Amino acid sequence: VFTSPKIAPSILSADFMNMERDVHVIEQAGADFVHVDVMDGHFVPNLTLGVPFVKQLKSITRLPIDVHLMISNPIEELPWFLACKPDIVTVHAEALDGVDEYRKAIDMIHASGVKAALAIKPDMPSEALFEVLPSLDMVLVMSVYPGFSGQSYIEGTDRKVAEVVEAAEACGAAPLIEGDGGLGNNVATAAMAAAGCDVFVAGSAVFGTADRAEAIRSIRNCAVQAQQKRLS
Ligand code: DX5
Ligand code: ZN
Repeated sequence: VFTSPKIAPSILSADFMNMERDVHVIEQAGADFVHVDVMDGHFVPNLTLGVPFVKQLKSITRLPIDVHLMISNPIEELPWFLACKPDIVTVHAEALDGVDEYRKAIDMIHASGVKAALAIKPDMPSEALFEVLPSLDMVLVMSVYPGFSGQSYIEGTDRKVAEVVEAAEACGAAPLIEGDGGLGNNVATAAMAAAGCDVFVAGSAVFGTADRAEAIRSIRNCAVQAQQKRLS
């Protein structure tokens, strides 16, 4: 808990006609991860990026690639994404049939030497993940209903982060915790950071402003200050 905050710009908010330029911009701007929102038009009402994109992204950046799969059939699709060798792959708990399938997905990801994360939507209780916390590298707590960037943070998501932190400590696990949705240099990021969030996904807060380095710096400072306040 309270690791140095990592900022993961979501390239869903980048300029799709200038993607390589925008990836290099966030690389220069101090991003820690590049967050890729994969949506299938079924698990969520939007259709975005897929396997060919992740594969080519890997060839143009040295930033760790954080793939967020918002798809209905992750077990079938995982091999394709894993073949691209991203750094972290996140699968939604809602797309899997209980703990047995959580384990199956996590094992598939680990078998490819990739870090494994499970995500929960705002209406999924954090308890859903408790049993598998020891085998997770990261937990993604959604702070909006997935599907679109630019939505507002859902109040109370920080409480779910605190629950995951507590449950992880109780079983000796230490997965990173990632927040996604409505985060920026704002009270949402402060609340999430104070609760123990480590990785801050930011779409519009980074790409919606001209100075991406300043945007990343301000989110990082916001999180650091909230951590320090909490610990003091
Ligand atoms: C939402 C995606 C997010 C989104 C974040 O479904 O998972 O990663 O792009 O965008 P902002 O930061 O604008 O809420
Ligand atoms: Zn995302």
